[in-house]
Parts: sequence; C-alpha cells; structure tokens
Amino acid sequence: MSNRPDDICARPERTATGGSDPLAAPLCPSTVYRCESPDHAEQLLTGQVEGYVYSRYGHPNQLQLAGKCAELHDGERAFITGAGMAGLALALVALLETGDHLVIGRELYGRSLQLFTKEAARLGIDCTLVDANDLEEVKQAVGDRTRLLVVETISNPMLRVADIAALAEVAHAAGARLLVDNTFASPVVCRPLVHGADFVMESITKIVNGHGDVMLGMLVAREADFERIHMAQATWGFVASPWECWLAARGLGTLALRVERAGTNAQAVAEMLAAQPGVTTVRYPGLDDHPDRDLARELLQGGGYMVTFTLSGGRAAAERFIAAAPAIPFYPSLGDICTTLSHPASTSHVGLTPQEREQLDIHDGTIRLSIGIESPEHILAAVEAGLAATG
Ligand SMILES: Cc1ncc(COP(=O)(O)O)c(C=O)c1O
Repeated sequence: MSNRPDDICARPERTATGGSDPLAAPLCPSTVYRCESPDHAEQLLTGQVEGYVYSRYGHPNQLQLAGKCAELHDGERAFITGAGMAGLALALVALLETGDHLVIGRELYGRSLQLFTKEAARLGIDCTLVDANDLEEVKQAVGDRTRLLVVETISNPMLRVADIAALAEVAHAAGARLLVDNTFASPVVCRPLVHGADFVMESITKIVNGHGDVMLGMLVAREADFERIHMAQATWGFVASPWECWLAARGLGTLALRVERAGTNAQAVAEMLAAQPGVTTVRYPGLDDHPDRDLARELLQGGGYMVTFTLSGGRAAAERFIAAAPAIPFYPSLGDICTTLSHPASTSHVGLTPQEREQLDIHDGTIRLSIGIESPEHILAAVEAGLAATG
C-alpha cells in the first residue's frame, strides 16, 4: 500500500476505539456503508439482513436517537427528520392519499396550518379547521374520508390543553387517526400515545434539544405501517444529519431536569404576573384560572415551560417591556435553556388580520415567554424590570 499523502487521505479509517467501550456514543458521519458482495448488498437493501447501506435510509446516530424518542413516548417506533415540519410532512405524505380529508386544530402553529391546508390541497387532500377544545365541532367535522385529526397538546400561544383521550375516541369512531404535536409539552410533561393518540410529532429543535443549535423533528407511533413510513422517509428524503442526531441524543440526558426546572420557574413567573395590575390576562396551564385547568391536572405533569400574558397598554407597552428586559431576549422560537420571549402579533401570527388575532385572544400587548433553567430570582427580576417600564 502506498504512503503518498493523497492515498493516505483517501484510505478509510475504522473507528479507532481499539475494541474498548467508549462512554460517549460514537459519531458516525459516513453517508455510505460497505457491502461485502452483491449478495450482501441485495440482502441489506431488501431487509433480509440488518445493517446500514446509505444514510438516507438510516444511520447509527439517527437510529440511536429514534430508539430513545420511541422509549420516551412509550411508542413502538420513532422516525427522526431534519426539522419538526419534516415530521409533519412525513406523516402527510406517508399516511394520506389524494381524495383523503384532514381535520386540524385552528390554533396549530402557522406553518403547520399552511402545510395541512395549502400544501395538502396541492396533493388533492382537503382540510377542515376546528376549535380543538370544542368536541362537538370536531365530531361534526370528521367524516368518511377523514384519515387524520391533528391537534397540539398545548396550543400556541394561548396554551389551551387538548383532551387527547376524547379526541382519539372521536377520530377512531370515524376510522381516522389522531396525530398530536407535543412540542409545547415535551415527553416529560405529556406522552400523548399513552392517552390514546396514534402518532406524536415533536420539534426536537425546541426543548428536547434545548440548546438552540439543532433543527430536528420526531414522528413516533404506537402501531402503524412502519415500512410505509420508512419508505416515504427514504424516498422523499426527510432525513436528519448524524451530527445533529448525536447532539440531540446527548441533550436527552438532561431533558427531564431541564423541563422540571423550567416548569417550576414558569409556575413562579405565572403567579407573579397574575398579581400585576398592568397585566390583563396570564395564560399558564398550572394556574387555577386556566380554562382547561382540570384537564391539565389529569393530562400534564406540571404546567410546562411556556407562559403567555397580555399587557393592558397594547403594542407600546409590549415594546417598552421588551426594551426594559434585555435579560429575556426576543427570539421567535422556544425551548432553550435561557428564558426568551416572543411577540406573537409581529411573529408567529403576523399573517393574520387584527380581527383574526383578536378571535384567538392574541392582542398587540400579548407576550409569550419560553422559560429557561436560570435561577427563579434571575427570571423574576428580569420580568419585574420589564413590567416597571410598562407603567
Ligand atoms: C408547535 C410547533 N410545531 C412545529 C414546529 C416546527 O418545528 P421546526 O421549526 O423544528 O420545523 C414549531 C416551530 O416553531 C412549533 O412551534
């Protein structure tokens, strides 16, 4: 074998652990895996023997993360995708066909609404929007062609809680399946499959990863045609990079700690905000005046990490709050270890008319907090500084 620099670089290195067992999971960035012979290649590609071939069909870091996500949700199998949206898109293209019908919650994340209305319509799949908290409206909307009902465990930004068991019954009675977007809850706060949902999707980008440096999604199922979903994933290319899967799997080790700490902090912030004269409403599932308080007690472990409140002074007050609370920076996302805020009227719901926003109870003075794991004193002081400026 030649020792020329170009030949050395081209030579593949085997994992250099010398047969020892590393504590940290190895990262396997390879896009392709060697086939020993044509027979072996055929067996791998037809599923007669287990193993990796090409990373769009699966790779070790994706499989490791998928296994942990399935366990976290008490599911049979999880699929990891390159973003939360790709998880929803995978469900759409794998499970539905032209002529099928969808029923979705009106309060879904904006891009999810776009996917299930506009993009689905391009594939000949029509959609009815409902108030997911109005079971009668949901029952009226499902019909013979309905294949999927889609809701969020905790909705954005007004944090309504979905009655997953009742919605699953409605879906199943119509021969449809229930898919729950659990991003605002996390598997620590709620495991929708345990309550009767058929599929759960989560944006790993948010609190599951929690460090603002990964964009991934998961689609988890109790039982389903897993081969169909796998085939759709490999064919449409809804894949996830080894590096991001590796990072997210590493972060899972602290998920429960992060969610519990953020939840305790969120409860303290919600209680403090509820006592402020310049605050007209505070929405948090852990507060006694939450419209779904009993359901939240039954379904959720704690109230979650999101708190939404409305300032009586409208947009001017919101702007003063944001400027006076630099310790809670304005990032239009959620689920980070640091507390951040967003202003729904100018971000997630900017595409709606003011009247449509009012109907959803989103006002110009509404601020959505994603509570982090800092000390409660730090977060409360930052909120107080913001409130002092709204005067
Ligand atoms: C509730 C909800 N679902 C899905 C998504 C999409 O996730 P991603 O940004 O990872 O595609 C988001 C993103 O903000 C979200 O808030």
